[in-house]
Amino acid sequence: MLIALCSAKGAPGVTTSGLALALSWPRGVVLAELDPAGGDVLAGYGRAQLTVGGLAELELVARRGGLAGQLDAHLVQLDTAGRARLLPGLADPATARHVDWERLATALASVEDGAVDVVADCGRLRVEHFPAAVVRRAAAVVMVTGSTLRAVRAAAQAVTELRNEGNGPAPPAGGLAALVVGPGEPYGEREIGEALGVPVVGVLPRDARAAAVLSDGAPAGRLFSQSALLRAARSAAARLVGFAAAQEARLTPPPTTPAAPAATVGGGRGR
Ligand SMILES: Nc1ncnc2c1ncn2[C@@H]1O[C@H](COP(=O)(O)OP(=O)(O)O)[C@@H](O)[C@H]1O
Ligand SMILES: [Mg+2]
Repeated sequence: MLIALCSAKGAPGVTTSGLALALSWPRGVVLAELDPAGGDVLAGYGRAQLTVGGLAELELVARRGGLAGQLDAHLVQLDTAGRARLLPGLADPATARHVDWERLATALASVEDGAVDVVADCGRLRVEHFPAAVVRRAAAVVMVTGSTLRAVRAAAQAVTELRNEGNGPAPPAGGLAALVVGPGEPYGEREIGEALGVPVVGVLPRDARAAAVLSDGAPAGRLFSQSALLRAARSAAARLVGFAAAQEARLTPPPTTPAAPAATVGGGRGR
């Protein structure tokens, strides 16, 4: 399943939340850093110790054909169990205009024939070269928002724009949802869900210590996995998987006519 995370103006926390979710995902997952403003995880959580081509290099090989078959070589392991992997984002945001988001969205929607989920950090809505094609293809599109009036208002506007109806990118086929970072400032889950008109699939507390591990590579320490942020991320990840699966089921029509033999489905990975 492809799941897109994005934010409205001035609502930070997408990358940190995406990383917390990926590390807490109940099954295999790829965190794809698609923010056209550039990737952060290698320099932050990765403490600049990992190097890999990532999105920029993948884009170059994709031009020669066979993106799906090449993806694996561009992923970095995020956890020791090997369940979470990272597609590092652009080192140079100036290259965002060269990325073919449509082609990438198609490849990401079927990583390992759907056995692995993809959580795509799409960054802020409305920025130039925003990966709208990825949002359109995703089973679930999650608006990451704070809980201040300013944040909720901006997120509500962004949801309206996404649903749109008019001048925005085509509305996503999948379900829209919200993830609240730092609830109670002053609004809570229920109020935010009502204001946005979408289900809230998770609530992550403000937890500066754990967030610094994720966004700036601060030493994790023994208690990191038991931090308030990681505990909340585990429950948010489980809820999000459930939400996205329901949306995907809604999007995938039940097989009626005799289908192609299973062996050929997804077998056409060109190299
Ligand atoms: N749940 C949280 N609690 C405390 N600080 C957070 C939390 N989420 C993010 N932050 C902090 O906010 C800042 C911006 O986060 P980041 O994820 O990079 O935002 P974005 O990707 O939306 O630009 C970072 O310093 C990060 O540590
Ligand atoms: Mg970010």
